[in-house]
Amino acid sequence: MFKLAFIGGSIDSIAGYPHFIASQMDKRFEVIGGVFSTDAKINEQTAKEWRIPKVYNDYKELLKDKKSFDALVILTPTPHHYEVLTEALIQKIPVICEKPLVNSLQATQELRKLLHKDTFLVVTNNYSGYPMVRELQQKIKNKELGDILSIRLKMPQESFLRPPKSVKYPQKWRLKDDFIPMISLDLGSHLHHLSFFLLGEEPTEVMAQYSHFSKYGVVDDVNMLLKYSSGMSGNLWLSKTALGNRNGLHIEVYGTKASASWHQETPEQLEFSYSSGQKVIIDRGSDVEMIANPLYNRMTPGHPAGFIESFANLYNDIAHALENFFNKKPYLNNYVYGFEHARNGIKLLHAATLSHEEKQWRDVDA
Ligand SMILES: NC(=O)c1ccc[n+]([C@@H]2O[C@H](COP(=O)([O-])OP(=O)(O)OC[C@H]3O[C@@H](n4cnc5c(N)ncnc54)[C@H](O)[C@@H]3O)[C@@H](O)[C@H]2O)c1
Repeated sequence: MFKLAFIGGSIDSIAGYPHFIASQMDKRFEVIGGVFSTDAKINEQTAKEWRIPKVYNDYKELLKDKKSFDALVILTPTPHHYEVLTEALIQKIPVICEKPLVNSLQATQELRKLLHKDTFLVVTNNYSGYPMVRELQQKIKNKELGDILSIRLKMPQESFLRPPKSVKYPQKWRLKDDFIPMISLDLGSHLHHLSFFLLGEEPTEVMAQYSHFSKYGVVDDVNMLLKYSSGMSGNLWLSKTALGNRNGLHIEVYGTKASASWHQETPEQLEFSYSSGQKVIIDRGSDVEMIANPLYNRMTPGHPAGFIESFANLYNDIAHALENFFNKKPYLNNYVYGFEHARNGIKLLHAATLSHEEKQWRDVDA
């Protein structure tokens, strides 16, 4: 079992518990310690509640104890990632970081200087852990949809008009926009990942429109049009002011032979519409393309694979990646993404802001 140490992710946080559970579901990881919160009481309470033996006062103290764990998990607010990442990478500590990796293009440039063959850095893009999303990737690869014409991804949420009651939301750090607005870092990073995961291609140009509709005075609704060098077009919509949507992640892929549609809130079902006019819905109980993997069937079909399970799939992949890393083999693969991929996402989001400001198409690579 790999030993993990957490920075952030307390019982009071949003991301902490899913990581704690998902990392341990298949007994590949054990959380041996952490500094879970800036609040000393919550920090202690988290370790106690989750029966974690070691609790540190701050992350510098934790990093000094690096011999006691195999990898560090960064779960602090996005603007704080860079500081910890820098320290950890300098000390050659393997890192598993929440998305988005950092919050600016400049930060990716600085971070890149710290990467070398002895660094392990992966980002938890958890939505591609869903079995049906992985199945869709496989079907696109097999050309079952024909040539892909366009992709539409949306992640509408209502949280700025109707915050969830279960957590303190929005947190202060989510109400400050830098050059790349927080909503793009929060939600756009997921859509960038999914578009690449499915298409295997990065967009070359973006046209964006930012809006703010809520009382918070930050960008809370973003539309992006994308162009791809292969001729495909893309359309991304992120919103925190879309009433009726708790977390309405939705994927549509249109090809010459068929289209596909998947909703995160009904993750078991993947719908295809063929050029014959036929519509087909498949689930884990159907004849699927993916190599049989017991991870996708912890529970029999009809029992929805949830958000936390998709995290667990990713954690298993990260365990393989760490194994490869420690055996001096390449560790990034189809399911585990690291720096380059994250940097491409930041580049797109950066160009989107330029496009929004200039009201014109921008090259992502410029
Ligand atoms: N993959 C997903 O679906 C998903 C979902 C939610 C959040 N996230 C990501 O997870 C990260 C955290 O988001 P969140 O919503 O859980 O934030 P949060 O504000 O709810 O929790 C952050 C936690 O980090 C702690 N913290 C802050 N600074 C710290 C420090 N210096 N040392 C130790 N602990 C510190 C806070 O006390 C808090 O417990 C963000 O990068 C966010 O983008 C990802």
